[in-house]
Amino acid sequence: MKNELIKLAQKHGTPLFIIDHDVIRKNFRSFKKNLPNVQAYYAVKANSNQEIIETLFKEGASFDVASYNEFMQVYKYLKLLQKSDKYFFIWDKIIFSNTIKDRDTLKKIKKYKPLVTYDNADEVKKIKQFCPTAGLVLRLKVPDTGSQVELSSKFGAEPGEADDLIQLVFDSGLTVEGLSFHVGSQCTNFDNYSSALQITSEILKTCRKKGYDTRIVDIGGGFPVPYDAQSPRFEQLAKVINSECKRLFPKDVELIAEPGRFMVATAATLVSEIIGKARREGKIFYHINDGVYQTFSGVVFDHWLPNFTAFRRGKKEVCTVVGPTCDSFDKISLSEHLPGNLEIGDYLYTENIGAYSTASATKFNGFDGAKIIHINK
Ligand SMILES: Cc1ncc(COP(=O)(O)O)c(C=O)c1O
Repeated sequence: MKNELIKLAQKHGTPLFIIDHDVIRKNFRSFKKNLPNVQAYYAVKANSNQEIIETLFKEGASFDVASYNEFMQVYKYLKLLQKSDKYFFIWDKIIFSNTIKDRDTLKKIKKYKPLVTYDNADEVKKIKQFCPTAGLVLRLKVPDTGSQVELSSKFGAEPGEADDLIQLVFDSGLTVEGLSFHVGSQCTNFDNYSSALQITSEILKTCRKKGYDTRIVDIGGGFPVPYDAQSPRFEQLAKVINSECKRLFPKDVELIAEPGRFMVATAATLVSEIIGKARREGKIFYHINDGVYQTFSGVVFDHWLPNFTAFRRGKKEVCTVVGPTCDSFDKISLSEHLPGNLEIGDYLYTENIGAYSTASATKFNGFDGAKIIHINK
């Protein structure tokens, strides 16, 4: 693999972000195999690269979008289906999972009869006024303890408010089609899923008692990626989810999920290049041509700890790896064990960098960020 990376870097230049579509397909198939009753709606936010969407679309994935632009990135494939399949239903392929949508977006998606999430009364009013064709999914606040990125502090209705928020929708002449939650991204505490499923099942029961045909249970994202040997196994989590869903929900429930990181994190590798080397207070600083404002943006937004591997061998020492911008904040890692004999022009590579990386990269200081290439497409 190392030789292949070097060849690609020499051919295309660095920084180089290499997306392996075989790995995307493998991840999608593993998700399906381990959670056979759950339809995967790929969370486009994790990596919105169009080729990734295309590969997953061909595999049969559905999609979770958060903005009009993401919606259109997926819709371009659905247009064709819509023409050829008279039973085609947009909900089978897209969920708009941002609980807060601006008025303009709602107006624009109205004609597609979308499935959208909400978690508060003002949003219901807004949807009624600007997108009354929508079906609604109530996002619940659930425990997210121990997840790499916690989401419940910003999203989700308190379970105690759920009954009123559901009633409000039906009273407004709209329909609650389902319930959803997100246990936090890179969830390593499986109890979060068990608690969330329990909370959801109780609210679903109340809906059914009232005669509402609420059917969708959306178990969100958060599925852990094997970043290191300590990461809990997805296969293990899938067993917990399967047995809890069987225990808690009636047979006619439609289970869906919004995996982002799980589909793409392991599918990309970045090759960067050392552009400067300095000893500062005794410690080696490797200055590389990609940083926290570009492909390593996940260090800031995703609380991610990247790994670096050198191609050259040498005695390892604790080094600092920093990005190319003039900002002192642009430090990628303060404690990388790398050979001390690396030189300007040497390459480093970083694995498992497919999620929340290029997606949130900027062009700060005039740096373009990594060139993206695709292999095994
Ligand atoms: C609503 C929603 N769904 C899905 C995801 C994807 O989560 P993950 O990448 O942990 O699978 C996110 C991530 O922030 C999200 O906010």
